[in-house]
Amino acid sequence: MSLPLEYEVTLPNGKKFTQQSGLFINNEFVKSKSGKTLESINPSTGVVNGEVYAAEDADVDVAVDAARAAFKSWKKLTGVERGNYLFKFAEILAEEQELVSAIEAWDSGKTLAQNAVYDIEETVAVFKYYAGWADKIQGRVIQNNPKTLAYTVHEPYGVCGQIIPWNYPILMAAWKLAPALAAGNVVILKSSEITPLSILYLATLFKKAGFPPGTVNILSGFGATCGKALAGHHGVDKVAFTGSTATGKVIQQLASSNLKAVTLECGGKSPLIVRADADLDQAVKWAAVGIMSNQGQVCTSTSRIYIHESIYEEFLTLFSAHVKEVYTQGGMFNDEAIVGPQVSQMQHDKILSYIDIGKKEGARVVTGGEKNEEGELAKGYFIKPTIFADVTPKMRIVNEEIFGPVVACGKFSTDEEVVEYANQTEYGLGASIFTRDIAVAHSMAADVEAGMVWINSSNDSDHHVPFGGVKMSGIGRELGEYGLSTYTQAKAVFVNLANKL
Ligand code: NAI
Ligand code: MG
Repeated sequence: MSLPLEYEVTLPNGKKFTQQSGLFINNEFVKSKSGKTLESINPSTGVVNGEVYAAEDADVDVAVDAARAAFKSWKKLTGVERGNYLFKFAEILAEEQELVSAIEAWDSGKTLAQNAVYDIEETVAVFKYYAGWADKIQGRVIQNNPKTLAYTVHEPYGVCGQIIPWNYPILMAAWKLAPALAAGNVVILKSSEITPLSILYLATLFKKAGFPPGTVNILSGFGATCGKALAGHHGVDKVAFTGSTATGKVIQQLASSNLKAVTLECGGKSPLIVRADADLDQAVKWAAVGIMSNQGQVCTSTSRIYIHESIYEEFLTLFSAHVKEVYTQGGMFNDEAIVGPQVSQMQHDKILSYIDIGKKEGARVVTGGEKNEEGELAKGYFIKPTIFADVTPKMRIVNEEIFGPVVACGKFSTDEEVVEYANQTEYGLGASIFTRDIAVAHSMAADVEAGMVWINSSNDSDHHVPFGGVKMSGIGRELGEYGLSTYTQAKAVFVNLANKL
């Protein structure tokens, strides 16, 4: 018996909705040509939440044809018209915010009240922000030669393939869809095979907002089949990806098939530096936000903390007390809990294996360091917020991305030494600096190799401000005007005003 294209779901909080299972192409939900499907697991129970159709090469071909056809008219709209579609979508999503947050929590393991609701609020804001940009994309007149009028037009690429991860399913979709559409591109977005459900509900809202068929296409599917087909497709003009550095490298290679433009937001191992003159109370609170939020499944997590030797033990005592008191664990529909389960069995196992590696490497467990087996939580992928101390530069837990609620703390004596530690990994996403000395703060901000620096905070993010990394954390920027600029390319037009050769 084949999977129906839609079915009714009642969420644990009693909310009901219709789950779509098809591939969203040309504003319709369709079955995959092969009939293949994939299952999404509930991370707090290990039970299947739902099943959806999984796209492969032949389905990607259909989506590309749909998108190419839609591009012809989408690019001819005025900026105001495109902006209106984005605004309309934002308004519809805002009306459905409560339900969408709940679906997102259920699908991904984010706690609803303390986490998922913010992602959906932010998604609404991102769409409104880029809706405002749609009619403000401008080229230039280049005034060199009085006999020539030369000007640039900022044109969309065409069909954008967008591949997103599972840690912020809807928000990562928003960061990619909104600027691409505002700039006049059409899109084919592939969700993560771990979290395919919430984005299919979002697909229904694009249709409701009146987007022309083929403008927004959403495929569920595996990376090695659907993702690969999209990144390598000759009918796709640009690819944007968020996920691991290992997969980012593969995407860049696949994209070389037709020299696609590439934007990559990859992994990180971001340092947080606490100088002796820091406001300790603030450093402790932000350090906890920086690694324990979203179960530590954040590319910009400040997962290495370097503390000045004069305040080392004091910081660790305050930090561990704060984490234990505030970062309570529970299921997605427990309104008090901040930390939910890890997204999947695989991530859960990977994190536990890193905890084991840390112990074997000789790091000291200050708190956590194991799976949470309390009552109902034992069934899910819950790992206790974990603080390692006394780490040394060569340890794997200091250099490799763990992507869980696990932080490595070590001490330093001089600013020069800590900048060296900060820059020692292959990554360069974020860096936090806690100090009351403004001159040191700015000079350290200049010296750390990172795409984003937070002075006296961690993981500050704002859709007006660019987001992205250096070194092996990625290429290009998302958000803000910089993010918009990665979705257009300049066309130069020469007009001969002299009218003869
Ligand atoms: P991944 O990077 O493999 O997956 C991200 C996306 O890429 C998914 O949509 C996946 O289907 C797709 N993908 C995978 N292989 C592909 C291929 N060959 N061609 C095209 N698309 C492909 O990440 P995964 O396996 O889910 O997680 C593994 C590790 O990656 C995590 O433990 C974490 O360290 C890191 N990660 C980092 C993220 C970030 O935001 N920086 C997000 C998710 C994972
Ligand atoms: Mg799931």
